[in-house]
Amino acid sequence: MEGRGMSVQLKVDDRDTGEVTQNVLGRDTERRDARQKVTGRATYAAEIRPEGLVHGALVRAPGMGRVELANRAEVEAMPGVLMVLSDARMIRNAAQGAAGEAPVQGVETAAYVGQPVALVVAESFEAAAHAARTLTVTCEGASNEIDPEKVEIAEDDTDETAQGDLEAALREARHEIDRTYTTPSMHSAAMEPHAALAEWDGARLTVRASLQMLRYNRAEIADCLGIDTENVRLLSPFVGGGFGSKLGISAEAVAAALAARELGRPVRVVQHRRSVFEVNTRRSETTQRIRLGADAEGRLDAIGHEALVSNLPEEDFSEPVLQGTHFAYAARNRLLVQRTARIHRPAAGSVRAPGEAVGITAFEIAMDELADEVGIDPVELRLANIPEKDPESDVPFSSHMLAETLHDGAARFGWADRPRAARQRREGEWWIGSGMAACFRVNMMMPAEARVRLTADGAIVETDMTDIGTGSYSILGQIAAEALGLTAEGVEVRLGDTDFPPGSGSGGSFGAASTGTAVWLACAEIRTALAGRMDCEPGELTLREGTVQCGNRSRPLAELLNGETLTGHGEVEPGKAEDKVRQATFGACFAEVAVSDVTGETRLRRMVGSFAAGRILNPRTARSQAQGGMIWGTGMALTEALLHDRRDGHVVNRDLAEYHLPVHADIPEMDIALLEESDPWAGPLHAKGIGELGICGSGAAVINAIHNACGVRVRDLPATPDRVL
Ligand code: MOS
Repeated sequence: MEGRGMSVQLKVDDRDTGEVTQNVLGRDTERRDARQKVTGRATYAAEIRPEGLVHGALVRAPGMGRVELANRAEVEAMPGVLMVLSDARMIRNAAQGAAGEAPVQGVETAAYVGQPVALVVAESFEAAAHAARTLTVTCEGASNEIDPEKVEIAEDDTDETAQGDLEAALREARHEIDRTYTTPSMHSAAMEPHAALAEWDGARLTVRASLQMLRYNRAEIADCLGIDTENVRLLSPFVGGGFGSKLGISAEAVAAALAARELGRPVRVVQHRRSVFEVNTRRSETTQRIRLGADAEGRLDAIGHEALVSNLPEEDFSEPVLQGTHFAYAARNRLLVQRTARIHRPAAGSVRAPGEAVGITAFEIAMDELADEVGIDPVELRLANIPEKDPESDVPFSSHMLAETLHDGAARFGWADRPRAARQRREGEWWIGSGMAACFRVNMMMPAEARVRLTADGAIVETDMTDIGTGSYSILGQIAAEALGLTAEGVEVRLGDTDFPPGSGSGGSFGAASTGTAVWLACAEIRTALAGRMDCEPGELTLREGTVQCGNRSRPLAELLNGETLTGHGEVEPGKAEDKVRQATFGACFAEVAVSDVTGETRLRRMVGSFAAGRILNPRTARSQAQGGMIWGTGMALTEALLHDRRDGHVVNRDLAEYHLPVHADIPEMDIALLEESDPWAGPLHAKGIGELGICGSGAAVINAIHNACGVRVRDLPATPDRVL
């Protein structure tokens, strides 16, 4: 989800929810869904086989331009084939997120090579796959530009924020750097391919799918099909990773629904791994020019950050590269420019920390270069430039713990012991070096609702929130247990069904705080009802181990409920606090690498991350998120690149063998610290987003460590051996 720097101001404060007595929240617990997942009992969208199930396979455009299905009749006559669907509604504009705003790309014209243009449906998966390969698609009449450096950028596609006079400040600066960095296209590369199983019951459509944001996805599907949202039910109880690629619906879901309606049978469409890489949005490649001017002590007076990204014409999304730069460091003279080139590579959208993941990575490499230039320790350089207020809007930060994370991380890592200059440590063929970077990520809150029902047997939490591997099941259960005086086992959590109240969905690191707060508020409503029955104020109420206590009076919960069910409904509406405070999360990453003098290969030896992201709801799930982020950062620094063919822009490396993500063998033990932070603007739960923070800086720590090891400054990511040697 694209971040817009939304801050948080809730309608309620923590006085309404009484005392926290349970300590279920904040406890390290194993994931509720862990056993189901590792034993194969968690059923994913493609694993359900209703009676009469038939199978669809997507067909891609081999070129750009006007599409013809040359041998359609022949394919329709193949054994087992039920239909060839080519319907404009199946290819929605790839813009992910808000429903109803996106135009439709259509199937008559392929906007990029690899765009899906048809669905072949057959009795068996094999027959569908064979028929899809047999369908001959021709594309004519277009050779659109695919190189972002070669197109003119419209004024509408340029966004500029300027303060002071950057050029003058750079001229007068004691130290100046002017560097250009590039990052390639990247892909979410979730383990579970995109899949949908659509079934109609009269006018009612049910789709089992792998999606992140059900309340919006439901509206998107209804919008594509031209039916009422109430007639769509989405089920996504388990999601095998999303990372942005499942924020919006994609072709297989709409195509399955259209085919199922026409055939009167359930239709399942699972994207082939190779299709996943071109049908679903990529992260845009970026070119970033960064100019910094500083005084003799390294204090910044000038910050220039100009980014070029790309997307298809008419797509809304533009990789928000500068999102972190807006608030990261103080400087009186600033120029931030974002340009979006309209080109015909596959659509760009949100991928793992859209914005800061690439923007802060480049910026933190530039900061390392500036530290070299000034002759100051990189940690000192960051400490010298922490802003007292938001550098652009001048509002205070709701909380700011960058300095604490820098000190903590440096101490854990043993930063003081590292050689300052490059090429000082050698072990055989390996140069050893250390680098660091700061991490920044906006904190967002989204609307969310949840329902909690309490009986004498325990509580049930219901929301259409998803668990995309992040731990939603676990933490939402912990929140309800804490608020209602139950054990974690005393709470059942039901997610991923649009028949439940709409949660926030999973994206932008906002899921835990947003939907978690809705659950908390639902429980608060129940507590108020219980307090009423006890004739006391909700704030005086203590719930513990099945007992309701008010002052020195106490009654068993079961007696107070008297066989009834108490239902609470919680709803969060993010307020508009951005004119009052700037809210973000902060961290610091430190990396030690070994770089082979013979092959140019870089091995990560150890990494330390120290983060401040509000209250930690469950140290184990939070740590996993931080660790995942640091691993993504390492991949971005060393291996990850979605490669476009230079002639037509198509994605060349469309599988997990050639799209290089780090695997276990690439990643050493990581030391992760989650610092205690109390942010008064973080709502009654005091929780903030942690999911993507680790991605926003860790890659720069690796690149900076390469420089410290062997003296090579990599500015074009990833730092593959050819770029290091
Ligand atoms: Mo995230 S890239 O907002 O799922």
